Amino acid sequence: MSGDIKGVILAGGLGSRLMPLTKVTNKHLLPVYNRPMIHYPLECLVKGGVKDVMIVTGGDSAGHFLKLLGSGSEFGARLCYAYQQGEGGIADALRLAEPFVGKGRMVVVLGDNLLQRTIKPSVDRFLAQKSGARILLKEVPDPERFGVAEVQGDKVVGIVEKPKQPKSNLAVTGIYFYDARAFEIIRTLKPSHRGELEITDVNNDYLARGELQSDRLEGWWSDAGTFESLYKASTLVREGGANLG
Ligand code: G1P
Repeated sequence: MSGDIKGVILAGGLGSRLMPLTKVTNKHLLPVYNRPMIHYPLECLVKGGVKDVMIVTGGDSAGHFLKLLGSGSEFGARLCYAYQQGEGGIADALRLAEPFVGKGRMVVVLGDNLLQRTIKPSVDRFLAQKSGARILLKEVPDPERFGVAEVQGDKVVGIVEKPKQPKSNLAVTGIYFYDARAFEIIRTLKPSHRGELEITDVNNDYLARGELQSDRLEGWWSDAGTFESLYKASTLVREGGANLG
């Protein structure tokens, strides 16, 4: 059944918060403990049952992804690649996956997001949905760094990107489940104050249509886009591995 769903890993961006580590390479090629960062989101998808995967990247090191990951067969995946020109943000990068996903469904994983546990239960729940989107929430001590969900009971009622005064401690993690409507929504977006098309705006559009579901993540979750989070992610992986069943 998960053959009906495609995976998209977004691995572009400037990695400016990790300068000078990212001066001559892409953030997603940096090590997280004993593997290049990009291995983790790829493994996350494959273990979630999603084997057809597009990697969207950009910049000067794009060719290194091909060299590192090749066809994907070593990982049990079938890979293809897209090149993002410029820095238009996460939703802008996702646009490039439209010919790959077509009218189907997708799991989008931000290339710097690492998880302790498999996403398989959420993949199954998403495939059981008739349409719409699903996001994964995780309690964090520093919600102002993320998209933050406002909830009433189990229901998400709003998402704010990097709020100064967060309404909860529930971060919207960088794993998103969408139907093909996401591409239509992206076409209507305007750049935010940071000049990017925001994935939070895509999620809020689904929410406004009553088509946004959510799950709470079990196990640890970390991004790896700052020195502190990269260090933390390496430690967590070293202590117990990632993408466990
Ligand atoms: C992005 C999203 C944010 C999300 C985060 C997860 O933030 O905009 O909503 O919570 O990824 O890693 P960015 O890494 O672009 O600052």
